[in-house]
Amino acid sequence: MTELATMNAPATTPAAKPHLPDAAKVTQVTHWTDRLFSFRVERPQSLRFRSGEFVMIGLLGDTGKPLLRAYSIASPSWDDGLEFYSIKVPDGPLTSRLQHIAVGDEIILRPKPVGTLVHDALLPGKRIWFLATGTGLAPFASLMRDPETYEKYDQVIMMHTCREVAELEYGRQLVESLHDDPLIGEMVAGKLLYYPTTTREAFPHMGRVTDNLASGKVFQDLGLPPMDPATDRAMVCGSLAFNVDVKAILEGFGLREGANSDPQEYVVEKAFVGDGI
Ligand code: FAD
Ligand code: A2P
Repeated sequence: MTELATMNAPATTPAAKPHLPDAAKVTQVTHWTDRLFSFRVERPQSLRFRSGEFVMIGLLGDTGKPLLRAYSIASPSWDDGLEFYSIKVPDGPLTSRLQHIAVGDEIILRPKPVGTLVHDALLPGKRIWFLATGTGLAPFASLMRDPETYEKYDQVIMMHTCREVAELEYGRQLVESLHDDPLIGEMVAGKLLYYPTTTREAFPHMGRVTDNLASGKVFQDLGLPPMDPATDRAMVCGSLAFNVDVKAILEGFGLREGANSDPQEYVVEKAFVGDGI
């Protein structure tokens, strides 16, 4: 198509396909449900980031201007490639188009990683809780694959809640693959406790993260003591309502919110801006 357009164009016309600024080539795309997909791109050589951070990615909009959105990097900082885990919003300006990317396409990737879901923003502890709904799993997909997570903590608990079972599949396969991972398989063994739940379809464990924390069910199920600011640390990533409700529970356990500049016992990041779909 591009070749044809170029061939038919007058000699003075610039190339039909504009060269993307900060381009990254797509190397893999996996569709998990009609609302969720993940993809990998080549990692710009200059890009350094801390597991848990996010970057701005996107495509060229109709007007030729970059259409960018924040995305957590789902791959760990040691990985040669970059992975992202994405929603498909039917009429979303970016994801209505991004969901159609294919291997060999290019996306825009601004190489300026930032974010609060990083180890540096927490005081040392014994146990870390990763608390997520939906695509809020993405930063933890990075942190669960980072050796530093297992060097810093004796136990790592991943609580992930979605409405339906199929929405848990990306996380389930990722956790399963960790056990055979040559780099961190041994570190993960016995340390990573995975606690997926659903709220609207039958599953072995059900209920919202907030309800399972507040009722103490998750502590009972995993054989853990209730959260204690002396030992427990938490990172939270979900909708605004989820984050607000989880924060109240963590504060109830005596944990205080931290930041890069002021490490404390828990940190929070929005998984998206808006009320949900
Ligand atoms: P938008 O106009 O951006 O959103 C339209 C509406 O769709 C929103 O108002 C909201 O109601 C809903 N929505 C948007 N994103 C989500 C979502 N992820 N889950 C459920 N509902 C949503 N999105 C990802 O898919 N993966 C990520 O790793 C990711 N990381 C983010 C990190 C940060 C710090 C922030 C602020 C947002 C992140 N997002 C992530 C959301 C992302 O920036 C976009 O909002 C999303 O890609 C949809 O873009 P859009 O242009 O299609 O629609
Ligand atoms: P529920 O089904 O009870 O609403 P969504 O798809 O709306 O983003 O929600 C993803 C998951 O997060 C769902 O399982 C949903 O549970 C749960 N959830 C939504 N809001 C909250 C909240 N304020 N606190 C805890 N869990 C929430």
